[in-house]
Amino acid sequence: MNILIIGSGGREHALAWQCAKDKNVNTVYVASGNAGTALEPHCENVTLDVTNHQAVIDFCQSSNIDFVIVGPEAPLVDGLVDDCQKADIAIWGPTQYCAQLEGSKTFAKEFMIANNIPTAHYQAFTDATAAKAYVSEQGAPIVVKADGLAAGKGVIVAESIEDAHQAIDDMLADNKFGEAGSRVVIEQFLTGEEASFICMIDGENILPMATSQDHKRIFEGDTGANTGGMGAYSPAPVVTAEVHNKVIERIIRPVVQAMKDSGHPYTGFLYAGLMIDEHQDPYVIEFNCRFGDPETQPIMMRLQSSLVELVQQGITGNLPAEAQWDERAALGIVLASKGYPQSSSKGDVITGLPQITTDSDDTVKVFHAGTKFGDTSQDGIPVVETNGGRVLCVTALGKDILEAQQKALVTTASIRFDGAHYRRDIGHRAISRQS
Ligand code: AMP
Ligand code: GLY
Repeated sequence: MNILIIGSGGREHALAWQCAKDKNVNTVYVASGNAGTALEPHCENVTLDVTNHQAVIDFCQSSNIDFVIVGPEAPLVDGLVDDCQKADIAIWGPTQYCAQLEGSKTFAKEFMIANNIPTAHYQAFTDATAAKAYVSEQGAPIVVKADGLAAGKGVIVAESIEDAHQAIDDMLADNKFGEAGSRVVIEQFLTGEEASFICMIDGENILPMATSQDHKRIFEGDTGANTGGMGAYSPAPVVTAEVHNKVIERIIRPVVQAMKDSGHPYTGFLYAGLMIDEHQDPYVIEFNCRFGDPETQPIMMRLQSSLVELVQQGITGNLPAEAQWDERAALGIVLASKGYPQSSSKGDVITGLPQITTDSDDTVKVFHAGTKFGDTSQDGIPVVETNGGRVLCVTALGKDILEAQQKALVTTASIRFDGAHYRRDIGHRAISRQS
């Protein structure tokens, strides 16, 4: 079999690595991939303009692709799944209609209200004066969000009314978030503990992935600016069996039913970003129409079922109710480049990367994200350089979250590049529960 994975981050490296393990797979093509997917056995990077849907279709036909997995949200929101399906290409991901759950916060909010899915109260605005008046009336803390896709950066948790007014001006008046910020959603501030709940959905059946939690803030102690995610771990102890059940019954099942009723069955990964309050009740902070990054890395590390089989079952509407998971915990630490998240650095040489060999420790895996090959080589192996904000995700398995964290930290500390930074406290909430 041949598989095409769209994307070039750590999520795509982890998905490609899992697919390549399947004995029925010849080649996993990754468009456009990174140095990690280039080095991975049975994986090959391809240059494809994924905004050109016909080019993707042509590649699938000429390379005998059995199915496509779409990693990031942009091609989904852009309707790649719809176009591939029209051309009879098997593809795993939601259609453009369903991807609005991530592509438009207003759509997602209206959908949740209409289907009684628990979420924060909100109002949407295009007028700055009206938005500010609403904030003044509601008080702080309050959350201001750009309506469209903003790569995880369009959310401001404002501690004061002044900060909220500033965020409104940035989005509506000063256009700092471009088109994504031409409408804002202003939302009640939720308290509790966050978790990521990701499922595979085939239009009807729901297959929950192992639970996880990521760390969005740049600094230790969950402080500083929001990022795409500085690390993640699985399982997330906050998602007890009781919470798990509530999430399925109050959130996931209503999404599946409502999409089916609207004539647009949901297919693909669905990610609910949750806040779980002190009564163990889950609220949706956001929906993503794809797998999380970096949640994918620890979750894939624990997956024992064949991802290839699961995706095939998903595409044909035959998802099983459960997958097999490693009992151990997995934890991933993101190494970011100089300046991240405000900026990022390219071309810094990375040293100390473990080699991918058959006898290497299979409890630690370094997934690449923003990496590329440099022009030089060392011992016949091309030099790897930074190529973006989030560079690597060092992921380890351990008997518990603490052991996984300690193992991941040892490997992380041995990897070097100019300006590298990472958090040493990934998993701290789970670890303090544990002790
Ligand atoms: P989002 O991109 O919507 O996931 O938001 C990024 C982060 O902002 C979330 O992971 C939360 O930590 C925080 N956040 C977003 N919405 C809310 C809310 N209504 N209440 C509290 N925190 C929020
Ligand atoms: N880790 C958060 C996300 O993938 O959106």
